[in-house]
Parts: sequence; C-alpha cells; structure tokens
Amino acid sequence: MLDIFCPTKYIIVATAAVIRINVTRRFGFIHIYDIIYDDEIQLMNSVKSLKTKDLLGLQGMSLEDLNLILKTAHSMKEIFTRPVKRVPPLLAKNIVTLFYEPSTRTRTSFHTAAKMLSASTQSVALSTSSVAKGETLIDTCKNIEAMGVDALIIRHSMAGAPHLVAKNIKASVINAGDGFNEHPTQGLLDIFTMLEKARTLKDKHIVIVGDIAHSRVARSDIWGLRALGAKVTVVGPPSLMPKDIEKTGAVVSYDIDKAIKDADFINVLRIQKERQKIGYFPSIEEYAQLYGLNSERLSRAKKDVVVMHPGPINRGVEMTSEVADSLQSVILEQVTNGVAVRMAVLFLLLGGKK
Ligand code: MLT
Repeated sequence: MLDIFCPTKYIIVATAAVIRINVTRRFGFIHIYDIIYDDEIQLMNSVKSLKTKDLLGLQGMSLEDLNLILKTAHSMKEIFTRPVKRVPPLLAKNIVTLFYEPSTRTRTSFHTAAKMLSASTQSVALSTSSVAKGETLIDTCKNIEAMGVDALIIRHSMAGAPHLVAKNIKASVINAGDGFNEHPTQGLLDIFTMLEKARTLKDKHIVIVGDIAHSRVARSDIWGLRALGAKVTVVGPPSLMPKDIEKTGAVVSYDIDKAIKDADFINVLRIQKERQKIGYFPSIEEYAQLYGLNSERLSRAKKDVVVMHPGPINRGVEMTSEVADSLQSVILEQVTNGVAVRMAVLFLLLGGKK
C-alpha cells in the first residue's frame, strides 16, 4: 500500500505508473493480442474460409458454409462481449460500405464488426460522391476497388445489384440488402439468435408475419431456415403475399392467430412502404388490427414463444410497444448478434486459411 506520508515514495510510484501507461498505450496491442487472445488467434488460424469470394445470398448456400458461419459467429460473440474487444486478423484489410438505401443497424454493425477484427473501414457518402454526377454502379465500384479495397459491402434498391458488381470486381462483395431479394447477414443473425434459444432448428416452427412480398429479410430467413430443417409459415394479407412463395418450401397462411398457435419463433416484418407502389391494404389501423402482434394475440401462442423483428419497428403497426419491449422479445439481442455474425462473415471471406 502507498505510504501517503512519504512524498518521495509517492512520486516514484506515480512516475512508474505513468511510464507503464505510456508503454502499454504504445505497445499495448501486442500484449493484448499475444497474451489475452492467444486462444482465439489459434482458433482463427485453424478455421477454413468460405468457398465463395462473395456473400450474396442464402439461397443455394451449402450447409457446410452455413454451419461454418454460425459456428464462427459463436466464437466472435465471445470475443466482442469481452472487455478488450479487438483482435488482429484483418489488420491489413480495407473495407468500404456503399449504401444506396438508408440504414442504421446494418451499416453500423458492419463497421463495428470490421473494426473489432482490426480492418480499416470507410463509408462512401453517396450524396457527395460521383454517383450524384451520373457515374454507373460498376464504374463506382471499380474505382473504389482500384484504391486497394478488399471488400465492398453494398446495399441497393435493385435486386441483383451486388451480384452484378461481384461479377465485375475481384474484391469480395457482401450483399447488405438488394431490393426485395435477399439480406443474407440479417438472415444469418436471425438464425444465430434462434439457435441461442433452441439448440437445433430442425422441425421448429418459425412464423414470419407481414409484408412478405417486399421483404428481403423474409427470403433470406426462409432459405436459411429451410436448409436447417425448420418449418416456416409466412403470414400476411393476400396483397402482400408473393406469387410462388410456396416454391421456397414455406407454407402460406392468411390467419395470424391460427399460424402462431404452435410457433416457436415469430419474426415480425416491417411494412416496406418505400417499395410499395400502390396501397396494399385499406389503412394502417386495419393492418394493425388484422396482422399486428399485440399482447392479447400473443397470449394465445405458446408461453415460451420468442418474438423477433429485424428493425426498424413501426410501433403500434407491426407490433405494440408492450410486445416489442416484453421479455419474450429478443429484438436487441438480434442487433448484438448482428455484429458477431458480420465479424464471422468478414473473417471467413477475408481471413481464415485459404
Ligand atoms: C432491411 O434493410 O431490409 C432491414 O433490415 C429490414 C427493414 O428495412 O425492414
């Protein structure tokens, strides 16, 4: 213990502490990486990479890759829930996000994930970029790649836009949502969150409620869940139910009360007003009454049913605040898990053993 009556001793101890802090600041990352996270680094060195250059969707993804991402996300979650969150495997990598549509969760989550793996990240501000001067998507992406970028994370209102870019550049492309086609990392984080609650999804019943027609989340969820053997029911008004959705293996229902009765998970989707060219239902109030999740409706489902939503929530429309903030809701856990899943995806595409 410090003897407060001995000023010389006090000065010596304080000086030593300052020197130690400075040395740790300068070289601290070496100690943190070499000592504290040695086990994670070993794990990372042994992990394989994904077979594909890009992550464009969950449709057609091999079960091996799907399980590899989910397993790696589990290790990543352990890393980023520790007090010192950063590990070095993507230290020399450059990642750029290019979002042609608004985003809060997905973009921040990708940046956070990349930073935790020590990659450098940049976000292209489209309103001030050359896109505003009429540059094509491919030209924009080729120019970004020419600056030594390793991965491009793209969100676009056109289904297939990231696929087109992926064909034209060598860097990895990650689809962060393309029109109403797919949102693979959202599908992965939804599945990861479900697997934290149920050890397996085989024969589990997942009910996806809402604007199925315009939802890329619904499609990615269905492809991933069906690959893992889950039973998926999609529920919504007939006008928001896409033709041929049964071909994905999902069962269609127009009766939410009947569908959620034996559900293990209810994933509620946002009404995608920005993609709806006409009015698909008479009024928001009517939609909320017929398809909104409220406490009364939920009380008729299984006691341990888990409620999910990819966000952003329109409170009072897709679900009431009471349900969104209830103990059955894992909406914020989904957001946390999004970082783990995106760390896994970035690591498996850019790091890992080739
Ligand atoms: C998306 O971009 O699709 C979101 O994650 C969900 C939504 O916008 O409703």
